[in-house]
Amino acid sequence: MNELESLFSSVRNEFPALNQKVHGKTLRYLDSAATTLKPKAVVDRISHFYSYETSNVHRGAHYLGDVATQAFEAARQKVAEFLHAKQIEEIVFVRGTTEGVNLVAHSWGLTNLKDGDEILITEMEHHGNIVPWQMVAEKVGAKVLAAKILDNGELDLEDFKKKLSAKTKMVAFTACSNVLGTNNDMALLTKLAHEVGAKVLIDGAQIVSQSSVDVQKIDCDFFVFSAHKLFGPFGFGVLYGKKEILDQMPPYQGGGSMIAKVTVDKTTFNEVPFRFEAGTPHVEGAIGLHAAIDFMEKIGFEKIHAYEMELLKEATAKLEMIPDLKIFGTAPNKGPIISFNLKGTHHSDVGQILDQEGVAVRAGHHCTQPLMARLGIPGTVRASFSVYNNREDIDALVKAVAKAREMLL
Ligand code: ALA
Repeated sequence: MNELESLFSSVRNEFPALNQKVHGKTLRYLDSAATTLKPKAVVDRISHFYSYETSNVHRGAHYLGDVATQAFEAARQKVAEFLHAKQIEEIVFVRGTTEGVNLVAHSWGLTNLKDGDEILITEMEHHGNIVPWQMVAEKVGAKVLAAKILDNGELDLEDFKKKLSAKTKMVAFTACSNVLGTNNDMALLTKLAHEVGAKVLIDGAQIVSQSSVDVQKIDCDFFVFSAHKLFGPFGFGVLYGKKEILDQMPPYQGGGSMIAKVTVDKTTFNEVPFRFEAGTPHVEGAIGLHAAIDFMEKIGFEKIHAYEMELLKEATAKLEMIPDLKIFGTAPNKGPIISFNLKGTHHSDVGQILDQEGVAVRAGHHCTQPLMARLGIPGTVRASFSVYNNREDIDALVKAVAKAREMLL
């Protein structure tokens, strides 16, 4: 065992979910791109909140209300530091990546987009970063364009540049493809978009569990992610927006907390970020996310990245040795995600056989139907790796895929 392997073998012990068998086999969880497992520290923190600190936030005239509010706002501070935001007010709590995109599309989009404008996305986007833009584009008469990808799954930079013009008002792209694993050059794409005067939204769902993010260095206008993809709870996420842009955006939803003053005739609105947080928030979501970021920081982002790259390299090399197996997405800079198919088989059949072997992967179109159309396939089998995976998981995957091949071909 090398140094990294021994560090991450103790990290693995922090995930109780891995101490179970499925279909009589040791669970090999290789579906972290869909959601990561939750470490004990996160589960315990949420349990402690529910057991001892339950109270509503920003309303309290009592002790527990203050405790909960402080914990909730400490989470906002933690997220601001995690993303290297300039100010805490730039962190808006939402339900997840999808709601973050919808908030920007509807609030910023409906206010700023008009007939003839263009929104540039890419062929590798998740539906969550396609459909909200189409909905808004249809309302205002704008058009959604997608920059092409190359055959290895990289973004076609020439096509991206060609599609940028004075008409482009928003460029929305993923930091890391949930299917191909391709990591996009966030700072470069942002710079190119800004040169034509467009705003930039980055879908950070897949990148946040892999590396720390510096929104000031990238200079993006918006960045969205979900807590459940980085060891935190479901139903919670973050929208980062530059303060000067958020300040100009109207509310997305109305209700309590987002107001300054309400009369029957008229309402004036609260400051950002509270203007965008109508109703009682997902308090334990924020607190759980805080614990999840602490968990990652304790390990260290560089070590996480180095280890996941080891896993990716080894799994890729071993899978490539299986005859009839084709990997989709071989960009030089990619995250720990491998999509593949066995020629002549259906991805669902392979997924089912893997499941019977205890190997949990995702099989399907991965909410990226335009990408599947580009690749000319209905779906893929996708194995994705995280801090709790190890060599045995890779070997179990490879063995199960070889078995699927024997059974199906
Ligand atoms: N977006 C998630 C995935 O790629 C659900 O699996």
